[in-house]
Amino acid sequence: MSGPNTSYDPVEVAALDPEAVDAAVAAALAAASAATTLEDLKAARGAHQGDKSPLALANREIGALPPSAKAEAGKRVGQARGRVGQAFAARQAELEAERDERILVEEAVDVTLPTGRRPLGRRHPIELMSQRIADLFVGMGWEVAEGPEVEAEWFNFDALNFDADHPARQMQDTFYVDPPDGGLVLRTHTSPVQARTLLERGVPVYVAAIGRVFRTDELDATHMPAFHQVEGLAVDEGITMAHLKGTLDRLAAELFGEGITTRLRPSFFPFTEPSAEMDLRCFVCRGEDPDCRTCKGTGWIEWGGCGMVNRNVLLACGVDPERYTGFAFGMGVDRALMFRTGVSDMRDMIEGDVRFDAQFGMEI
Ligand code: PHE
Repeated sequence: MSGPNTSYDPVEVAALDPEAVDAAVAAALAAASAATTLEDLKAARGAHQGDKSPLALANREIGALPPSAKAEAGKRVGQARGRVGQAFAARQAELEAERDERILVEEAVDVTLPTGRRPLGRRHPIELMSQRIADLFVGMGWEVAEGPEVEAEWFNFDALNFDADHPARQMQDTFYVDPPDGGLVLRTHTSPVQARTLLERGVPVYVAAIGRVFRTDELDATHMPAFHQVEGLAVDEGITMAHLKGTLDRLAAELFGEGITTRLRPSFFPFTEPSAEMDLRCFVCRGEDPDCRTCKGTGWIEWGGCGMVNRNVLLACGVDPERYTGFAFGMGVDRALMFRTGVSDMRDMIEGDVRFDAQFGMEI
């Protein structure tokens, strides 16, 4: 249809007829104003302004006209397309404005509404403290060991060189599992993991065991019937008390800051010889206040027990005490958390109040 033309065929150029052009314009204007959404308008634009629209076709016919008729037809079609273009642009602006208005209303945020956000769960501070301790030992090349909370009396006591009549076996300290003569207890310390580890893994061995232990203590600000300990056991050739002190000092520095002062005080445990209690310099008075309530004026806070593994324990677990020596310790995890956070009542740590957990549970 397009291309160089020499003849003027009135039939072929019917699209240029003024009435046809007016009709196309009227249809386009009607479609523009009938469009109620931007999508409708886009479709109408395609139909009335697109390549196949009547006005586009008419425009193409102009080339076929004799030169004398071109100017007039060109003007007519050009004006028609101009009007249609304006009408669509105007409608487009109207619909966009309406859409913007609607979005402002629909997506308005009422900042005064109460939030529906649920608080995120957090790990319990005792769990975090346990992981922190485990990380320290793993970083030193130790392994993490575990033992059951319901423990054989043999592991909890006998293997650890407790006499049959040791006072700790009495009912007031130990929770016995029914039936009472069934040989099962709730472990009173993490030390049975020492015997289990020696039997299972052999020597040399370096393990830390962190877990829950149970004693028939009344619940008060500084005692809980269920609490946590970190047990350490290192058995190798040539292990001395210096290794024990160095390891515990590292642990103390890691948890309470470099420069923390510690001391070992002679003590007794059936499963270590010699035995010691490890104390930390009082965080509150640093040993300078005889009336300090935290250390009761002693200047020191007890943290746990330790010592060189008793040869009877090594023998009970099949380890040659002439060749191997070892150290062991058991520190209070809950106590460590108390010292770190300044929480003075242990009950706060176990009551499950999320305000407490949130406050101390954000640590990495
Ligand atoms: N098990 C002892 C307690 O619970 C602590 C301890 C562990 C002492 C290891 C010596 C060696 O009190």
